[in-house]
Amino acid sequence: MAVRPILIAPDPRLKVVCTPVERVDGDVRRLADDMLETMYASEGIGLAAPQIGVSRRVIVADCARTGEKPAPMVLINPTITWESEDEVSASEGCLSFPEYFGDVARPASVKVRYLDRDGRSQEIEAKNLLAVCIQHEMDHLDGVLLVDHLSALKRRIILRKLTKMKRAQEPVAV
Ligand code: NI
Repeated sequence: MAVRPILIAPDPRLKVVCTPVERVDGDVRRLADDMLETMYASEGIGLAAPQIGVSRRVIVADCARTGEKPAPMVLINPTITWESEDEVSASEGCLSFPEYFGDVARPASVKVRYLDRDGRSQEIEAKNLLAVCIQHEMDHLDGVLLVDHLSALKRRIILRKLTKMKRAQEPVAV
């Protein structure tokens, strides 16, 4: 397992529509394990493969609270098979948007079908934080980012600030 660098927006690799995984093999399991390690190292509760530059439909999550036993989840080719009519609005963050949060309204519960780390087909009903997290990570697989749920003005301001921040962090040749 290895911690991989997380891409910070704006980055064209975060806007790609990812391709489905055809077979859950050792490569895919290694990818999922690296994603979990990267997510834990950054203290996130979810991560999508494109955030480490891999355009495949894989997400990981762990929504266990502090003090609870870790509950790592690997969801490969996730699809939503049902969503509740009632919505929840949460302040969401994203490891690709350090230090930014934005209110996003989403269905409060969803049923998700996916392949697990062993390639077995699973379906779960997710509620509350896990439902928000899974929907946020699934957005990433279609190149949809947190800022795409905000107003155009907010989106421009946030992306401009991140562009400046990234430029400031680039090594300077002297
Ligand atoms: Ni995110």
